[in-house]
Amino acid sequence: MVRTDYDIVELISAKAIAARVESLAREIDAYFAGTDKLIVVGLLRGSFVFIADLARELETPVEIDFLEASSYGDSTTSSREVRILKDLTSEIAGHDVLVVEDIVDTGHTLAHVLKVLSARGPRRLEVCALLDKPSRREVDIKARFIGFEIPDEFVVGYGIDYAQRNRNLPYIGCVRFHDD
Ligand code: IMP
Ligand code: MG
Repeated sequence: MVRTDYDIVELISAKAIAARVESLAREIDAYFAGTDKLIVVGLLRGSFVFIADLARELETPVEIDFLEASSYGDSTTSSREVRILKDLTSEIAGHDVLVVEDIVDTGHTLAHVLKVLSARGPRRLEVCALLDKPSRREVDIKARFIGFEIPDEFVVGYGIDYAQRNRNLPYIGCVRFHDD
């Protein structure tokens, strides 16, 4: 059921996000120093704001592409089925690839995407996640570049949604339902 009776409590300000995005870009530039081309793969739709800001801070030459994966929660088990809904346009074989994700939660989405992409033979395949919720992890996976570690809270803003709402908030906030 989609609810609209909630408030959003700021967790990470727009200013704090901008500062962290800049420092992440420096870490990524240092890691991929000397590469001829870094293919930056945004996972749709949640990473669209983050990838736009991050890409503009990077000095490494980049190619931008997008991939959309869909995860279906199974109410009876903790296993998840992930499908690729929109595949890459770029060829990644032999290239450096950075997957950009909004949040790593259970890790199922990322694990599936990395399995699919690594089968194509990229030179290096790394992940940059804006947010990490390590307490929710069900799959042993960790992004090399992480913006912020957050507690087990449902968040929205800066590209991240609740039922497709609130992606356009400039900051990241926690959803607080009125009867919680
Ligand atoms: P995972 O497969 O459980 O790691 O799922 C990660 C995906 O779930 C993220 O890319 C988000 O799209 C979504 N997600 C996880 N936590 C949140 C949240 O707090 N707010 C909104 N979407 C979330
Ligand atoms: Mg997502």
